[in-house]
Amino acid sequence: MNNLSNIEIIKKRHSVRSFKKKKLSDRLIQLITVKIDSLKSGYFKNEIKFYLVDKSNLQKNIRFGTYGIFKRTKYFLVSVIDKNTCNDQVYEDLGYLFELLILYVTGLGLGSCWIGGTFNRRKFREALELNDNEFIPAICPIGYQTENFSVREKVMKKIARSNNRKPWHQLFFEDGLSKPLIQDIVGKYSIPLEMIRLAPSARNTQPWRIIKIGIYFHFYLKGVSNSLSIFDNYDFHSVDIGIAMSHFELSSNELNLKGKWISNDPKINLKDELEYVISWETK
Ligand SMILES: Cc1cc2nc3c(=O)[nH]c(=O)nc-3n(C[C@H](O)[C@H](O)[C@H](O)COP(=O)(O)O)c2cc1C
Repeated sequence: MNNLSNIEIIKKRHSVRSFKKKKLSDRLIQLITVKIDSLKSGYFKNEIKFYLVDKSNLQKNIRFGTYGIFKRTKYFLVSVIDKNTCNDQVYEDLGYLFELLILYVTGLGLGSCWIGGTFNRRKFREALELNDNEFIPAICPIGYQTENFSVREKVMKKIARSNNRKPWHQLFFEDGLSKPLIQDIVGKYSIPLEMIRLAPSARNTQPWRIIKIGIYFHFYLKGVSNSLSIFDNYDFHSVDIGIAMSHFELSSNELNLKGKWISNDPKINLKDELEYVISWETK
């Protein structure tokens, strides 16, 4: 088992779509199960259920459809929300909690990939025998990564432009959108911000924008058209913001940078370009 810091784990994580046949040990399964049990609710108070599904343990012979993009998947982490009890910010909470889990399994030496679109929801619903009010926003195959990327995997990475990340000056600002944030000004906080820059996002759209005003880092969502029909069912950009929150919080804690999440919209005029989500108050 690796003993990496959270910052190292964030740097190490990347999407894995081809796995070895190798089984997970009972010890790993137990660790993941304990981690799942520890994930209660996010900042916005939504409870998300997570399951570790081992295909070979299912009673029914269910073929999980992942449209040929994924190879030799045996284990899946599956997230479930309850539409009757969740609030509008359930997807931020989902992104935050699921990414904590994904980074945890990355630290255990496993490969993973967020899947919000390219899977057959009905098959997974059947396997988990879900109620009508329950919905699966995303799943994540986990396992040991093959040594080489498959051709399909390379194509998928190319389509999603997975290796590209937007430069710092397009993501982080000070006092408004006209002034890019200078790294020297934020001192050690440049690392948690860099960890956001490396975060995964649906189709790698990187919709997070952060504006620093005084002691606050305000998190905004940059609207990107939801043009891909595989994502029609839900607001995956809000999931991306939750993912950014988890990277920022984990790395700030690790660097002993004290702060907390707070809803504190500064209501600056952004000409509807960005949607306010949450702020981090530094101490
Ligand atoms: C919410 C979300 C949904 C995603 N859905 C899919 C998907 O349906 N199929 C897929 O192959 N990759 C999916 N991805 C993976 C992204 O394409 C990938 O994270 C991004 O291209 C960045 O690459 P990296 O994870 O290797 O850093 C998703 C990622 C996120 C965060």
